[in-house]
Amino acid sequence: MMDWKPVIEQTLITTRLNIKRFGEAFPIVSFGDGKYHLTDQKDWTEGFWSGILWLSYEYSKDPDIHAAAVQTVDSFRRRMEAQQALEHHDIGFLYSLSAKARWIAEQDEASRQLALQAAEVLMKRWRPASRIFQAWGPEGDPDNGGRIIIDCLMNLPLLYFAAEQTGDRRYADCATIHAEKSRRFLVRGDDSSYHTFYFDQENGNAIRGGTAQGYQDGSTWTRGQAWGVYGFALAYRYTREERFLETSRRLALHFLEHLPADHVAYWDFDAPQEEGSPRDSSASAIFVCGVLELLEHLPESHPDRALLDEAVQQSMDSLVKNYFTAGDLTEEGFLRHGSYSVRGNSAPDDFVIWGDYFFLEALLRLERGVPGYWYGR
Ligand code: GLY
Repeated sequence: MMDWKPVIEQTLITTRLNIKRFGEAFPIVSFGDGKYHLTDQKDWTEGFWSGILWLSYEYSKDPDIHAAAVQTVDSFRRRMEAQQALEHHDIGFLYSLSAKARWIAEQDEASRQLALQAAEVLMKRWRPASRIFQAWGPEGDPDNGGRIIIDCLMNLPLLYFAAEQTGDRRYADCATIHAEKSRRFLVRGDDSSYHTFYFDQENGNAIRGGTAQGYQDGSTWTRGQAWGVYGFALAYRYTREERFLETSRRLALHFLEHLPADHVAYWDFDAPQEEGSPRDSSASAIFVCGVLELLEHLPESHPDRALLDEAVQQSMDSLVKNYFTAGDLTEEGFLRHGSYSVRGNSAPDDFVIWGDYFFLEALLRLERGVPGYWYGR
């Protein structure tokens, strides 16, 4: 088994340099030049930099990293006050890894309140007629009005957290209904998954599966499959509904059965895999975190444990040996060969900030047994 400590130390070299490089801005993706494109609270991705800083601070106790992490939460507070770019379902990604992370790391009450406010904003995406959280667009939107996407499973933990903290079951009940709809309609009979699914906005009837970022409507976008592995394992953690654990396990087996020889996913399992086809290293980093979560819940005697353990080791070995920038002073990201949207020709095959976040989360889970910020400790 690999010694993860030196790898974590190398990520810290990059993070300390990035604090100076990025200032108060937030990295998203790079466009083939290895330089992170920066944004300021306009996207779904800003939480990942905050999460990297909180994980790095918890590991190192470095006061400079702490100051940078606190600054990101202040920025998220301003975003909330201005209600800026919050009209989508990714509030969970944004505020779980920033405000909720600070609450988990150091029990800061104002951050807990901010996370609860964020959960309330996410509830505005609930559509009672179709009983889903609408991913994108305004209510009644002809294209996106009745649409869910598999990524949303990672937004649900913020709602479960709010239910725990406030005692208000409304958050958890809606989250569980959405998770169950995702299980029934996004997961296919062969344990592959749709990226998105459409429901009738008036009566909730199921219409059809499709994709936004995958190769084809019926293909399996690897990052979506990884969101499912992790998201259903988290749904199990909060609900103890066996069907969610079983779904996470099935999605995980499908994922690992479709990996190429170097154990790191291409961007879509059904896209042609030839010389130069883009990988999505972030899908593999998310997959590892999802499997580590799944393994926390599978019984010791479960026959798939050994296979899943081996998948974690093989994926991490390959990510570290073949994709990791290893503290190189000129590199801004941790993992090369992430892909945002190959189909949309947006940032294929370079750094993506969520790949870096989940790589670090996986390292800390493996080295310290410390999970990320999807649930309290
Ligand atoms: N949640 C958006 C993505 O994974 O690209």
